[in-house]
Amino acid sequence: MEYSRIVLIGFRGTGKTSLAKRLADKLDWPLFSTDRMIAEAVGMPIGDYVSRNGWRNFRKAERKVIAALPVHAHSVVDCGGGVIENESNMLLLRQNSLIVWVEADIETIFRRLSRSGDRPLLNQPDLRRDIEENYRRREPLYEKYSDLRVDASTNDADTLCQMVIETKRN
Ligand code: S3P
Repeated sequence: MEYSRIVLIGFRGTGKTSLAKRLADKLDWPLFSTDRMIAEAVGMPIGDYVSRNGWRNFRKAERKVIAALPVHAHSVVDCGGGVIENESNMLLLRQNSLIVWVEADIETIFRRLSRSGDRPLLNQPDLRRDIEENYRRREPLYEKYSDLRVDASTNDADTLCQMVIETKRN
């Protein structure tokens, strides 16, 4: 089956964004980043928006952005890590899509997030606890909604890209 969209899901800090860019370049398909679209829609960086308006409003903005994505045209969609928190998001994203779960181990995620800027904590005051608790809770959801799972801790960018493109063709 040929899909018109490739949708990347997975925990924050797993490398979804760089894989999405690479896929879009290779396929020459437009790239949509839900986080970037949300920041544009609300007129400020995600971190500022969440500290002013809270996660509930962020999730509402995320849902709106997802509902506005093109369904039938070719595209690569880079989703925020929490997209799986709302089933309605996944029902919309599933249409015509190969859904790829980009996975990495907790240590890799911790290392990457310790260095990164605009990523507000989810519900724990400590980064490691925030990752561990949410990772455990979300893992079955990423599993449930994905068609393909790729491990970004043990595969380089080219291999990941190839794995996705080959699956898309079959
Ligand atoms: C979130 C992940 C972020 C962003 C927001 C919420 C989450 O996206 O959407 O901070 O709930 O895990 P990335 O996965 O691109 O960091």
